[in-house]
Amino acid sequence: MTTPMVKAEDVHKSFGQVEVLKGINLEVRAREVFCLLGPSGSGKSTFLRCINHLERVDAGRLSVDGQLVGYKERAGKLYELNENEIADQRQDIGMVFQRFNLFAHMTALQNVMMAPIQVRNEPKKDVRERALQLLERVGLADQSHKYPSQLSGGQQQRVAIARALAMKPKLMLFDEPTSALDPELVGEVLDVMRNLAESGMTMIVVTHEIGFAREVGDSLVFMDAGVVVEQGTPREVLSNPQHARTQAFLSKVL
Ligand SMILES: Nc1ncnc2c1ncn2[C@@H]1O[C@H](COP(=O)(O)OP(=O)(O)OP(=O)(O)O)[C@@H](O)[C@H]1O
Ligand SMILES: [Mg+2]
Repeated sequence: MTTPMVKAEDVHKSFGQVEVLKGINLEVRAREVFCLLGPSGSGKSTFLRCINHLERVDAGRLSVDGQLVGYKERAGKLYELNENEIADQRQDIGMVFQRFNLFAHMTALQNVMMAPIQVRNEPKKDVRERALQLLERVGLADQSHKYPSQLSGGQQQRVAIARALAMKPKLMLFDEPTSALDPELVGEVLDVMRNLAESGMTMIVVTHEIGFAREVGDSLVFMDAGVVVEQGTPREVLSNPQHARTQAFLSKVL
């Protein structure tokens, strides 16, 4: 048995009185493309943010590559990690959001180079070389000198993917990476994600792009109201949903 890349055991999260995650159990294997589907407000983004420790879980256990997120365990007791330790954990996880969140005053190349230089103190020359390779990989070799405002939404999102990859993450989280894009720009971002999946990257992808989930996904989870309603291969869940809630949701998006 290999260690799962992500393991969630009875993960709970509330905001005030509202319980948003009501005991999530799931496992993401290394090299897997794991798609997460569900209606607005079901807790998808919150769950992704917990994996990255942007939110703290209230109960249950969440681990990435065998390491508890936000805690260490000594002699059966849990101790919260300090800020530096949390930042170290986070370096291994790349996140791409719906809004690209690029630094507006930096070129594409500078955006991709920033974290390895600032956070890891890597030599600028090496980082630059890697950043140029990554920009080439996402099809932007000739756009490296441009500022975000000079790039299309699809190009900006591809820069954001390259920027996340610059930290050599072992896990990539995508939160509706194409839903802010004009329809004709969606394909170019999905192509980059497909290539990334083929390279063996472990990916958790929140998306309403059913075609992508069906073609590229290895597993698909349908979440509703803070619980995993249904899980299986994309083919199983999409073609033969077992639960009424899944069926109702799919009848709207398919
Ligand atoms: N920081 C917060 N404080 C209070 N409530 C929050 C916070 N973040 C999320 N919520 C609430 O938690 C619930 C789940 O939100 P979440 O963003 O995880 O849903 P989602 O499945 O990603 O939805 P969408 O498809 O619209 O992105 C929502 O009811 C939301 O209002
Ligand atoms: Mg969301």
